[in-house]
Amino acid sequence: MRNVLVTGATGFLGQEVCLRLMRMGYRAVGLTRQINEDLAAVPVVGDLLRDEDFVGPPLVYDAVVHCAGHHPGETDEVEALHEEGTRRIVDEARRSGITRFIYISAMGAGMHAPTRFQRSKWNAEQIVVKSGLEYTILRPHLMFGPGSRTFRRLEEAANRPWAVLPDTKPLIQPVYVGDVAEIVLRSLWLDRSIGQIYDLGGPQSMKLEDVVRHMARDIHLFRILTVRIPRRFAFYVLNKLGRVGPILTGEEWAFLQHEVTRQDSRWLLDYGLLPHSLAIYYSPLI
Ligand SMILES: NC(=O)c1ccc[n+]([C@@H]2O[C@H](COP(=O)([O-])OP(=O)(O)OC[C@H]3O[C@@H](n4cnc5c(N)ncnc54)[C@H](OP(=O)(O)O)[C@@H]3O)[C@@H](O)[C@H]2O)c1
Repeated sequence: MRNVLVTGATGFLGQEVCLRLMRMGYRAVGLTRQINEDLAAVPVVGDLLRDEDFVGPPLVYDAVVHCAGHHPGETDEVEALHEEGTRRIVDEARRSGITRFIYISAMGAGMHAPTRFQRSKWNAEQIVVKSGLEYTILRPHLMFGPGSRTFRRLEEAANRPWAVLPDTKPLIQPVYVGDVAEIVLRSLWLDRSIGQIYDLGGPQSMKLEDVVRHMARDIHLFRILTVRIPRRFAFYVLNKLGRVGPILTGEEWAFLQHEVTRQDSRWLLDYGLLPHSLAIYYSPLI
């Protein structure tokens, strides 16, 4: 296997996947709507939603890593990209005779999940599962690492002397983007990952405010004020209290209201990889 088509190649995870593929001697073919000089892949321009005839890249490739997707609350196209976009790339893979397909879903994906984001990921998973392709579905929790838009907003909150955060009781399980990229790579040659769905959560389960505390430059001076916010006012209140833009979108807030942590030790066993903790990026300077 030599050529791998990566959708979402310009994204936070996609870039990391392309870099690792290139380093391992694969040729990464990166699908993007607009060519970007920093793309660590052979670029192919295409829009999974708007190109009338999405016929895919004119290159021969052996596997697809489908990373293109949205974040909760980011756009109204979440269902379109996750469902229609996935259907198109699956059809394209079948038409080209590709069998190996890695799909990046999200932890908490479910038919009756509380957010549009999670429900659309579930629908996309069903398209992949029923496709007849040799699939592996990876469901990361919130990914951290350089370039995460969500963590950048949390970092901004942590770099002020104090932060106002919504009081969220459920725990989250941040997972390092490099670990997810490594799992993608290993899936390409690990036959026992075919037909499997893995929940990828980091080693720590913590509250949102503890994640922000982890990021604070001076843990002794930093203060967090948590406030209880009725769900229907959350987006408005977060906008106002976040001071420099919202710390969380309304959908992210809804997502965090429902705990979806999982300890799925199968990915440690099947891939032999120990996930990194948040401390590799955010160690408080004491
Ligand atoms: N980040 C997280 O914490 C997290 C957690 C759980 C699951 N996920 C999922 O993991 C995947 C990767 O996330 P990420 O954070 O790397 O995303 P990201 O940085 O927002 O990147 C999204 C990618 O999707 C591509 N894209 C968007 N609309 C497209 C369209 N119509 N046609 C083709 N490509 C399109 C963009 O490519 P261009 O703009 O170059 O066209 C971009 O490369 C997504 O499916 C996301 O839902 C992310």
